[in-house]
Amino acid sequence: MDKPLNANRLRTHFSLIKLIAWTCIFLGLILFFSLHYPHSSPSNRLKYLEDSDWKYQILNSGRPKSRNGFRVLVTGAAGFVGMHVSTALRQRGDGVVGLDNFNGYYEKSLKRAREDLLKSKDVFIVEGDINDGVLLTKLFKLVKFTHVMHLAAQAGVRYAMKNPGSYVHSNIGGFVSLLEVCKLMNPQPAIVWASSSSVYGLNKKVPFSEIDRTDNPSSLYAATKKAGEAIAHTYNHIHGLSITGLRFFTVYGPWGRPDMAYFFFTRDILKGKQISVFEGLNGFTVSRDFTYIDDIVKGCLGALDTATKSTGSGGIKKGPAQLRVYNLGNTSPVPVSKLVNILEKLLKVKANKVVSPMPANGDVLFTHANISLARRELGYKPTTDLQSGLKKFVAWYLDYYKPSGKKSSV
Ligand SMILES: NC(=O)c1ccc[n+]([C@@H]2O[C@H](COP(=O)([O-])OP(=O)(O)OC[C@H]3O[C@@H](n4cnc5c(N)ncnc54)[C@H](O)[C@@H]3O)[C@@H](O)[C@H]2O)c1
Repeated sequence: MDKPLNANRLRTHFSLIKLIAWTCIFLGLILFFSLHYPHSSPSNRLKYLEDSDWKYQILNSGRPKSRNGFRVLVTGAAGFVGMHVSTALRQRGDGVVGLDNFNGYYEKSLKRAREDLLKSKDVFIVEGDINDGVLLTKLFKLVKFTHVMHLAAQAGVRYAMKNPGSYVHSNIGGFVSLLEVCKLMNPQPAIVWASSSSVYGLNKKVPFSEIDRTDNPSSLYAATKKAGEAIAHTYNHIHGLSITGLRFFTVYGPWGRPDMAYFFFTRDILKGKQISVFEGLNGFTVSRDFTYIDDIVKGCLGALDTATKSTGSGGIKKGPAQLRVYNLGNTSPVPVSKLVNILEKLLKVKANKVVSPMPANGDVLFTHANISLARRELGYKPTTDLQSGLKKFVAWYLDYYKPSGKKSSV
């Protein structure tokens, strides 16, 4: 009689242990996710949206300091271009609220350092994703944005081989989510956003002009930017949103992006690491129309200043609205080998370089912008050559990273 009773007790005992173990695992997982994604749970986010200090910072940051200043929402404000554009807007008296999800595509500490810099200039960055419609609507409720400078995106061509979903998430889903909120506003803001020179894809005709074909992208990144241009057309056509797309050409400068060649060449040259300089078939020289950040910022401000108002409200179009696309380049392509020579001289270190064939990862062989349209309509006039721009970048790099030993002198 005792035996089955014991067996039953034992079974209950083990079930209890199992239950406790599963509960611990479950609670552990909840703890892990809430620590790693602090704003991802709805209840957490709603609390955050009601925080009065948070609201105060947004209101303060979004308030223009000059009489006719704009109120601009800058997405991707902790990014390279976003930080510079936000600074310039705030410096001239506009109200600026940043939005960035601080993703880990490249070192987060650099994004946080940019955030600190913006904080010192009275610009607050909201931490959140452009796919979060509730958050976007809340921001528009707090500040009647006159303009949106949309720079948040998954940038970089090569990373699409590893994480294609991130391009669709930010460059397509995120853009649509932002436009969905903008279209419902009354008044609707005017939107200026970053497309890319990569939309010219495999085009052979140079310099690239806005009227050239852009239907042969060579990377997923380019395809999502091209999709963005088509999406912009739709929201302009149906909802009367004023939208300006800017096709940036290889932007470089202080506070730049660590995934870009000029940046990691600098890091690797200083470390004495080998760098690969790619060439095309039959020794074709790879070159880029490197454009200095201050010139790009002037182009962005020119686009914001010449943007006319959106014509719709509450999602309904009231008349035709402005739809524009401009190249913002330097119109002076430089071979990548020359970029390396300039860096060697500025860093006073000989690069350990190998020339190798360009891998098939979506990169194009050359870019060259025709900027006459932007010159005419935005007053865009780049003034910084690669040598002078890299000098400023290297000075910033050495100051920011304070690299210890240099390897070998030129
Ligand atoms: N730098 C260039 O050479 C270049 C060239 C062509 C086009 N562009 C475009 O210009 C814009 C700015 O580029 P950048 O060089 O400053 O890149 P960046 O990566 O430094 O900045 C983009 C910022 O957007 C944020 N972000 C990404 N996805 C987001 C999301 N879903 N929600 C909220 N924030 C998000 C990132 O955290 C990042 O801080 C991008 O749209 C990029 O595609 C840049």
